Amino acid sequence: MRHLIDILDLSKQEIDELLATANDIIDHPADYAEVCHGKKLATLFFEPSTRTRLSFEAAMYELGGNVLGFSEASSSSASKGESVSDTIRVVSNYADIIAMRHPKEGAPMVASMKSSVPIINAGDGGHNHPTQTLTDLLTISREQDRLDHLTIGFCGDLKFGRTVHSLLCAMARYEKVKMIFIAPEELKIPDYLITEVLEPAGVEYVQTTDLESVIPELDILYMTRVQRERFFNEADYLRLKDSYILTPPKLAPAKSTMRVLHPLPRVNEIAVAVDEDPRACYFEQAKNGKYVRMALIMKLLGVTK
Ligand code: CP
Repeated sequence: MRHLIDILDLSKQEIDELLATANDIIDHPADYAEVCHGKKLATLFFEPSTRTRLSFEAAMYELGGNVLGFSEASSSSASKGESVSDTIRVVSNYADIIAMRHPKEGAPMVASMKSSVPIINAGDGGHNHPTQTLTDLLTISREQDRLDHLTIGFCGDLKFGRTVHSLLCAMARYEKVKMIFIAPEELKIPDYLITEVLEPAGVEYVQTTDLESVIPELDILYMTRVQRERFFNEADYLRLKDSYILTPPKLAPAKSTMRVLHPLPRVNEIAVAVDEDPRACYFEQAKNGKYVRMALIMKLLGVTK
């Protein structure tokens, strides 16, 4: 039995296979309409979500399966003090696979040790979000036709942004990927990702506070929201929340082939006027999330078309 807790639980070859399956689902959805008939996905969301939970649920329905679960901790027995371990031991009797989001880093790992069915980490605190990474990889590969030889700018809250942490771990495995981290001093990428992931892999990287000086060299600009829910102090959030706001004039010097990604939700960091720019790709990215989650559910359940 396999779980997906960290994106590095998947080999590069497995990721390539998942992306190939997702692309085939996009091209031939009818071929997959019944492959999960009789199977159930539980979505256990102890923290809010729109895209991840609903795309998982849509994914399972489009594979012919069924869905059960809860969308907030307050409507589960966690609100009465039940532990994650006990919840998982119970729910794994009711479902064939579980997608779980939790505010505590490591909670899906704990769940995987108690579960009798595959666990998918749908986001744990400021730590990891591996299925967002699969979504991002599918989007980058579809838009740029490759995952290597790319310059990627990560901009915004790189300290708490779990989607950035997972994506940089995945991209570090591809040839000649250069990473540019654009963040205020207080929201810089955690040091452990530099010393334990990027440097051992020999990835070229730059840290800067200035988006405008680097935007012309980017193939991908990965914007992120400042994560209000992870701040200890509201005053710090208010001071930092508008550090970067992408507007049409700021986007003007970028390559015509550059793509703007954002895991969403957006707050204020991309002006709505940017949505009309052909380089804006974040709504397409959210759509891709459903297809890659379909491919992942199939893989972890061991079903084929
Ligand atoms: N990208 C993402 O995780 O969005 P949700 O919080 O809406 O699931």
